[in-house]
Amino acid sequence: MNLCLLQLLSISFSLTCLFDGIQGQSCPALESPLYGSLSGPCLTNPGSTCSIRCNPSFESLGSCARVCQPNGSWTGLPLICLNRAITCPPLTLPEKLSMGGPCFNVAGGICRFGCPVDSTLLGPESIYCTNLGSWSASPPSCSPNGCPALQALDNGQLTGMCGIQGLNYFHMYSPCSLLNM
Ligand SMILES: *[C@@H]1O[C@H](CO)[C@@H](O)[C@H](O)[C@H]1NC(C)=O
Repeated sequence: MNLCLLQLLSISFSLTCLFDGIQGQSCPALESPLYGSLSGPCLTNPGSTCSIRCNPSFESLGSCARVCQPNGSWTGLPLICLNRAITCPPLTLPEKLSMGGPCFNVAGGICRFGCPVDSTLLGPESIYCTNLGSWSASPPSCSPNGCPALQALDNGQLTGMCGIQGLNYFHMYSPCSLLNM
C-alpha cells in the first residue's frame, strides 16, 4: 500500500472519529416514572434534556432533570415517586428469590426480582406498591430447571424480607430539586 493511500485512510479515519465525537451516541428513551410524568422534549440525542416530575402528594427522589451525554448515558439517577403515607404489607420472599435494588413498601415503590442461574423465574420480574396500598401482583418464585448448574454463583444477593430498605437508599435517592441534575 502506498503512502498517499495510507494518509488518505488515516485522514478519513480521523474525520470519522471527529464526527462521531461531535455527534455522540443516542441515549435510551426515558420512561415516565410510576406516579409521575416526563415533561419537555426528552429526545434521545446527545445534549437533549428531560424534566421529570411526580404526581401531586408523591415525594420526588432521584433526578428531576436529566441530560443525554455524548457517550449515550443519561446524567443522574432515575426519578422515583413515593407516597410514604400509603404503605403496602412487607413482602416475605421465597428463599431463592433475590432482590435487585431498593424495594420500598410505600406507594410508588418498585421491587425487582431475580433467580439463581440454575433456576427459572416464575411470575413477574417486578411488582409495585399501588396507591391503594396493595401490591400490583404476588412476588414470583424460582423453579429449578432440572439441569445441573453450569456455573457457581459467586455474587452475593439479598434474600428474605423486603420492607422499606433503609436510610441508605433514601439518601442515595435524595429529593429532587431544580439544582439537582
Ligand atoms: C459517560 O460519561 C460521563 C461523563 O463523562 C461519565 O461520568 C459516565 O461514567 C460515562 N458513562 C459510561 C457508561 O461510559
